[in-house]
Amino acid sequence: MAPISDDRFLGKRIVLGVSGSIAAYKSVALLRALVQGGADVSVVMTKSATRFVSPLTFEVLSGHPVATDLFAAHQDMLHLTLPERADVIVIAPATANVLAKCALGLADDLLSTMVLTSTCPLILAPAMDGGMWDQPAVKANTAALRGRGALVLDPEEGPLASGRTGRGRFPDENVILSAIEAQLCPRRDWGGQRVLVSAGPTHEAIDPVRFISNRSSGKMGYAMAQAARERGAEVILVSGPTALPAPVGVEFIQVLTAEDMGKAMTSRLSWATVVIMAAAVADFRPRRPSPEKLKKTGTAWKGLELEQTDDILALLSSQRASQILVGFAAETQAVASHAKEKLRRKGLDLIVGNNVAAEGSGFGSDTNAVVLVDREGRVTQLDLMPKRVLADRILDAVKALGVPATRSTRPQLSDTK
Ligand code: PMT
Repeated sequence: MAPISDDRFLGKRIVLGVSGSIAAYKSVALLRALVQGGADVSVVMTKSATRFVSPLTFEVLSGHPVATDLFAAHQDMLHLTLPERADVIVIAPATANVLAKCALGLADDLLSTMVLTSTCPLILAPAMDGGMWDQPAVKANTAALRGRGALVLDPEEGPLASGRTGRGRFPDENVILSAIEAQLCPRRDWGGQRVLVSAGPTHEAIDPVRFISNRSSGKMGYAMAQAARERGAEVILVSGPTALPAPVGVEFIQVLTAEDMGKAMTSRLSWATVVIMAAAVADFRPRRPSPEKLKKTGTAWKGLELEQTDDILALLSSQRASQILVGFAAETQAVASHAKEKLRRKGLDLIVGNNVAAEGSGFGSDTNAVVLVDREGRVTQLDLMPKRVLADRILDAVKALGVPATRSTRPQLSDTK
């Protein structure tokens, strides 16, 4: 349960949409926590939601009538006036059907019509059974909503109402509350800081059409850049090739190889107060990439000689003045001890160790479970959470180490790549 009687949502107007899932009973507790946090909450329920929980329950706890019917609500134009007044719309639980309607822009009941008329931020906390979350249609709808800026939380994995086990459980109440808080009350506690972030993989050419790379999607690094920006920092994001759009308000530098990334990072080091290396930089590259496409010879290929790339973090560490250096460690076992060893060897202030072999964690996923190890030897285990939420936890940990005093110089770039 969330803490009682805080005032983190004081003065905020929230529309809580409840759709027809067995998890609808959990949104009663969510409503209580929002009201106890000071929010003024109006509840809109779909017809199917009312089969799981009585509107009266939400009415009593919110202190407002619950809107359920587009046509009854039409007299008061609630599909227009509710979203106009709202600081955020939170749909929790959001069924696969509601995700699909929001993604397609359908408007066949009060909740979907209201979403279609709204311009305020939208948060969806999905809950669904029977493997629906993994269906291509649901994935496509989720991606479409995320692409348009909606925050779609990941459902949790575990026992489901059907008795099966899988991903589809209503997200943890505190994760939903943190997401609402981040949306409504953005902290500006990184104002004045200059954060240099790396993200994504690098490509190391074998020949003009082939390369060596890895599975990094860039999601973790982009989430770090976005979080630092939203908290008031100036941010430069140096990114290897990814399919992600550049975060809004961030200076974006596109690179291809480990060498490019090394130059882009070291040339901006003097500008930065904090450097975060979330990129998965190739450790090896072909020693002599072929200028022509290599032909098949019908036999095994034995001639690919690899050489090590420069360790960018170690370079940054040897050149830094007062910058805080944060590294990531991609591990498949003994995460904390390997992370600790990398922190020491690379001369870092903080390292984020992730078990890239664990379900839902590491490469490509929207979530990550990590262990933070700082230069004082403190170890903090963080459970699986969305990468954007984790990014805030990492920034909190950096802040606890004491971010350096800020300077006002723009980067003097001799070489921008
Ligand atoms: O991009 P996503 O799909 O969201 O996945 C996120 C992630 C798994 C890529 C990210 O969370 C992560 O773990 N990034 C670091 C991956 C990695 O390269 O780990 P490493 O243990 O090999 O390297 C340790 C640190 O040294 C990293 O900060 C890395 O950026 C840095 N490094 C590595 C090699 C190199 N030549 N130069 C470096 O600076």
